Amino acid sequence: MKLLHYFIAVSGSVLALAACTKERRSDLPYQYQSDALRLPEQTYNYANPTLPSHLANIKQAVSQRVTNEGATLGRVLFYDPKLSLTNNTACASCHLQAKGFADPVAFSKGFDGALTKRNASSIVNPIDNANFFWDARETDIKSMVLKPIENHIEMGMDNFAALEKKLGSLDYYRPLFKDAFGTEQVTEERIAEALSQFLNSIVTGNSKFDSSEPNGWGSNNTSVFTSKELVGMNLFLGKARCATCHTTTSNQFGFTEGFANIGLDMDPKDLGLGATQENMNGVFKIPSLRNVALSGPYMHDGRFKTLEEVVNHYSENIQPVANLHWGLQDGTGTGAPVKLNLSTDEKESLIAFLNTFTDNQFIQDDKFSNPFKQ
Ligand code: HEC
Ligand code: HEC
Repeated sequence: MKLLHYFIAVSGSVLALAACTKERRSDLPYQYQSDALRLPEQTYNYANPTLPSHLANIKQAVSQRVTNEGATLGRVLFYDPKLSLTNNTACASCHLQAKGFADPVAFSKGFDGALTKRNASSIVNPIDNANFFWDARETDIKSMVLKPIENHIEMGMDNFAALEKKLGSLDYYRPLFKDAFGTEQVTEERIAEALSQFLNSIVTGNSKFDSSEPNGWGSNNTSVFTSKELVGMNLFLGKARCATCHTTTSNQFGFTEGFANIGLDMDPKDLGLGATQENMNGVFKIPSLRNVALSGPYMHDGRFKTLEEVVNHYSENIQPVANLHWGLQDGTGTGAPVKLNLSTDEKESLIAFLNTFTDNQFIQDDKFSNPFKQ
């Protein structure tokens, strides 16, 4: 494909900013090598994504809310460390495409080296998501996208007038803002709109599990699944109770509106929804399990490194917390946690099934990749 190369002359104002900036982080987990921005001559197709028919509602929502030019600008913003106070941290520093847009560490490093208080979430079909963050504190994607920019640990850029000025001084943004919004003007509102269009364009639905769908969700589709995966699926839907919360009838393998305390700690350090609501200590959002094999470590604090550790928790380690979700109680009416005591074989099968939620096409899709490359 023919590429249009924007090579950026380093302007005086950028040099001035760089002078008061710390060294660029050498451990950035993606290749931000220079200010060379490469975009295709024709925009990628964001507005009309290819998705299987059972995700038609997502496809339709994307076409209503995303333009190719808006998402193109949003992609550049998502990967641009200049959105941070110190020019060293982009959204993509903590949300890595190869990891389902999660971060492979428990806590992520922000702009000045401090660690986030929670594990960076994976990004899964946010257009179909009613709540954002582990405590579901944001419901509107457009106001959500500005939060990491101003966050004092994440990107530290809490002066949006200064951000507008900074981005406005960078040559490569002018044509991008013009294409997306008709004029070159950089505003906070346009930054939020473009970033949310890019997020809304991030759709994933081409996993092995999706390809079994023509026979119906959860059907014993032996032409798609191995026998081990099928054993895992039946555990997931039945005995192991996973689908009580991570429902397979939603598009997400998780009620996006749902919350639960899954008995991780008797005395949770992070209160989750309990920080703002009665009797909700240790209650967190039920995350989607799409691409879960890629997005470890797991849970709101990244305490489990592997899916094996996650399954061990559900199998034998659920703590008898007072507000344990009913789906994980033993059914005797005392509120005691269930002891699934899964065998090694059952655990392996369950994990084999979780692996069928991975969309390998999605993590390699150029339109979601870093546009700053050499
Ligand atoms: C320093 C690391 C870091 C940076 C930079 C960062 N994030 Fe995050 N992101 C996180 C963490 C940690 C969470 C979970 C926070 C929480 O739940 O309290 C998160 C959560 C999210 C979620 C919620 C997903 C869900 O389904 O609940 C989205 C979406 C998101 N970030 C988008 C962005 C965008 C857009 C940017 C850039 C403007 C960005 N992030 C920058 C670490 C980061
Ligand atoms: C009662 C509802 C409920 C049930 C039942 C349930 N989960 Fe969860 N699951 C959650 C919640 C809530 C979280 C997030 C908890 C946290 O971080 O504190 C979670 C987190 C996870 C995660 C980590 C995801 C991530 O991105 O970090 C995995 C993997 C997972 N569950 C798999 C399973 C499996 C496998 C089963 C069945 C054995 C299961 N869950 C049963 C509610 C549930």
